[in-house]
This record gives sequence, C-alpha cells and structure tokens, in this order.
Amino acid sequence: MYNSKITGLGYYVPDHVVTNDDLSKVMDTSDAWIQERTGIKERRHVNSEADSTTSMGVKAAEIAIERAGIDKEDIDFIIFATLSPDYYFPGPGVLVQRDLEIKTVGALDVRNQCSGFVYGLSVADQYVKSGMYNNILVIGSEVHSRGLDMTTRGRAVSVIFGDGAGAAVVSREDDTSRGILSSHLHSEGQYAEELAVTAPGMGKRWVTDILKDNDPNDESYYPYMNGQFVFKNAVVRFSEVILEGLQKNGLQASDIDLLIPHQANLRISQFVQKKFGLRDDQVYNNITHYGNTTAASIPIALTEAWEKGKVKDGDLVVLAAFGSGFTWGSVIIRW
Ligand SMILES: CC(C)(COP(=O)(O)OP(=O)(O)OC[C@H]1O[C@@H](n2cnc3c(N)ncnc32)[C@H](O)[C@@H]1OP(=O)(O)O)[C@@H](O)C(=O)NCCC(=O)NCCS
Repeated sequence: MYNSKITGLGYYVPDHVVTNDDLSKVMDTSDAWIQERTGIKERRHVNSEADSTTSMGVKAAEIAIERAGIDKEDIDFIIFATLSPDYYFPGPGVLVQRDLEIKTVGALDVRNQCSGFVYGLSVADQYVKSGMYNNILVIGSEVHSRGLDMTTRGRAVSVIFGDGAGAAVVSREDDTSRGILSSHLHSEGQYAEELAVTAPGMGKRWVTDILKDNDPNDESYYPYMNGQFVFKNAVVRFSEVILEGLQKNGLQASDIDLLIPHQANLRISQFVQKKFGLRDDQVYNNITHYGNTTAASIPIALTEAWEKGKVKDGDLVVLAAFGSGFTWGSVIIRW
C-alpha cells in the first residue's frame, strides 16, 4: 500500500470578465442583489470558440503536469469531472488524451457536478494507493455560460455560475504520513431534480420528438435549481462531511490549516466557517471573482491558494463539496 499526494496544480479561466452590472443589462437583476445573496462580483465567460470545457481543462492540465515535474508521457490515467462536456458523448477524458498527445492510457469521466473534483480525487487516490497507477491527471472544467438562460426568467441560476478549469496531478508518495489521508463520498438521489438539467436525456423523450418540437420555451435544457432547498441541504451536508473526515483521522476543526469549500455561494462558506469556529485565514474563498464553477471550483481555488503560499508543507488541507445529485464529499490532505 502506497500513499498518494497532489504534486502539481494548475488552473485556467477565460479572459472575458462579466460583472454583475453587465448581467443587469440583459436581465432584471442588480449588483446589490447578487453580492448580498451570493458574494459574487464577477465571473468569467468564454467568448471565443477556441475555449471549450476540454480546451480549458487541457490548459490547466499542462500547468499542473509541468509543476509536478513530470512529462505528460508519465501520466498513466486521466479523470475528467464536468457537467458541461463538449459532446453528449464521448466525454472529455478521451479528448484530453488526444489533445495532450498522451499515450493510450485510460480516461474516466466523472458525472458528479459540484462534487465532481472531490469524487475524481478520491478515485485517483485509490488507484495510486493500490499501486495500479503512479501519476493520475484529475481535471475539473466547466463551460456554463453557453447553457444558461440569460434572461430574467433564468436569473436565479444564471448569475451564480461561471466558466473555468482546474487540474491536479496525483502521484505515488512513499511517506505515509503525507498526502491524501482519506476521502468521504455521499449521495441522496431523491433530490436529483432539485438541481438539474433534465434535457437532452433519454429518460422520457424520443430525440425525434425533441427535434420536431424545437420549442424555444422548453426550459428543460436550462439548469433548474430550487435555491433555498439547495442552500439548506448544503450547509448541513458540508458540515457533516467535514466532521466525518476530521473524526476519521482523529483531528479537530482547530487542526485545519486551510479549508477549501466548493465555491457554491459565499454565504454557505461563511456558515460553515462559523459552524467550525474557523478564522478567515483558515478558509479560502474566491467566488467573488469567478462565481460558482462547479467541478472546477475546488481545483481553481486550491491552485490559487497554493500560488499565494497559503498551502505549505505539513499543512492540514480540507476540501469539501456539495451539489447536484445531491452528492457531497470531503478529502483530507496532509500537504
Ligand atoms: C439562489 C439563491 C442565491 C437565491 O437567494 P434566495 O435568498 O433564496 O432568493 P429567492 O430564490 O427566495 O428569491 C428572492 C427574490 O429574488 C428574486 N430573484 C431571484 N434571482 C434574482 C436575481 N438574480 N436578481 C434579482 N432578483 C432575483 C426572486 O424572483 C424572488 O423575488 P420575489 O420575492 O418577488 O418572488 C440562494 O437560494 C442560494 O444561493 N442557494 C444555493 C445555491 C447554490 O449554492 N447552488 C449551487 C449548489 S452547488
């Protein structure tokens, strides 16, 4: 049995900054409403056809691989988490294998929305710990902007989400006191439709009917979110799964050097911070600038925190996520 650790991190966000005031020009909303409810001031939207979920993931991955000090030929498995893939199928994992010109290693696509990166990291951890693989590339990337209802009808959802990508290289670590200590995953499918895009699924409709209807008022292609219900569940599940991770390792909240919560909503992060009695310097948030980037939010935030020197050798770093599914999870890391 080996240990696994994150050896390289990278992120990429599109250049195009969309402020709350920009949104208020296309829908009935305001900077004050968005900031007060979510903490978001601006987010990035792709504005070039060259930017896609895969291409942004590739850019983040190239940085992570270089920082890991390995060659892309050393990658022996790819895990890609997204809810906004370039194609209905195949998933972006194989597109990364192609675009990075990596040898024909396995590529796994993860469909766990805001928890996608935490799920992906957990899978990578198990493969490395078992000795099956040495270096795994884990990517979270999203293009939300092309799929949002940018009218007043969609404002409760559209103001929250942004585009971007983050990546990590997870490698074998012989020192068992360092690296990923444990991961904890959960789901509760009875609430699947409380935060969902239900089209173009094959659950109830024939593709021929969808094409024939071609109905511009069909909202099933846009994300639906029962905001308050999601909020209430998020604060409970975040807290539970962080506690579960700490208890598993005989740790306490005061041992946390840096908590990186999935950037769902600043008010959710602040609730969790207060619940665990953490200081501002023990929690990293960047939702103000990027909005909620779903599977990309944790790797973007972790990379930024690391670049700013907030993640140091020996630190206890806790990652926690909650989102559509519902799914939630945490990863406890001794850096
Ligand atoms: C979405 C969210 C910000 C909405 O905040 P809220 O306080 O619950 O707001 P409500 O949905 O009750 O709406 C309050 C009012 O604001 C309006 N409103 C909604 N979106 C708006 C917007 N962008 N701008 C202005 N007004 C808006 C609503 O229409 C409603 O108006 P009404 O009172 O006249 O009916 C909040 O529920 C939330 O953050 N939920 C969790 C979201 C999340 O984390 N999702 C990702 C999970 S991974």
